Amino acid sequence: MCSPDYFKKIFRTVRDWPKPGINFRDITTLFHDPVAFSRAIDVFAEESDKRPFDIVAAVDARGFTIGGALAYRLRKPFVLVRKKGKLPFKTISESYQLEYGTAAVEIHVDACKPGDRVLIVDDLIATGGTLLAAAKLFQQLGGEVVGVAALIDLVELGGSKKLRDAGLNVFTLCEFT
Ligand code: PRP
Ligand code: ADE
Repeated sequence: MCSPDYFKKIFRTVRDWPKPGINFRDITTLFHDPVAFSRAIDVFAEESDKRPFDIVAAVDARGFTIGGALAYRLRKPFVLVRKKGKLPFKTISESYQLEYGTAAVEIHVDACKPGDRVLIVDDLIATGGTLLAAAKLFQQLGGEVVGVAALIDLVELGGSKKLRDAGLNVFTLCEFT
């Protein structure tokens, strides 16, 4: 098992991007390091042993990089949670709040069946709005969201607390304040 500090050193911080005052936590550096990338996926796989699940889901777009690798590693079905208007078949949709305005995520109506246990993966938790909306989609279809997992928790933005307060199990590799 790798420590949170091991992963924190891998991610790059880009100061004042995309605007002044934001410390952007850049996950692309994880993918430059195949050992660190595979360790991150291994940690998620080990953690997932604690709560069995049937489906890995991941959030558009950075979440796909993690969720796809985890689903492949675990030989589990993989579901894409996409931004509005990207999925071709019949969808359900859930809106969430952005700093200015709203956004929405969608899944196909056959993304899960009632009783399916779903782990939802993303790269990072900020306000938690995206993962909460994603969780609501699976719950609408009768799925059980056994947890949400991300590489990074921007803990001061309160997203992981919001997700736990909503009754979700939250797992992250490291925190930035
Ligand atoms: C980022 C990130 C998470 C979300 C976290 O995605 O990848 O999905 O924001 O923010 P929240 O916890 O406040 O909801 P973004 O919408 O920027 O899309 P991208 O992955 O396509 O860059
Ligand atoms: N998404 C929201 N806030 C972010 C940040 N500080 N770094 C990377 N992605 C983000």
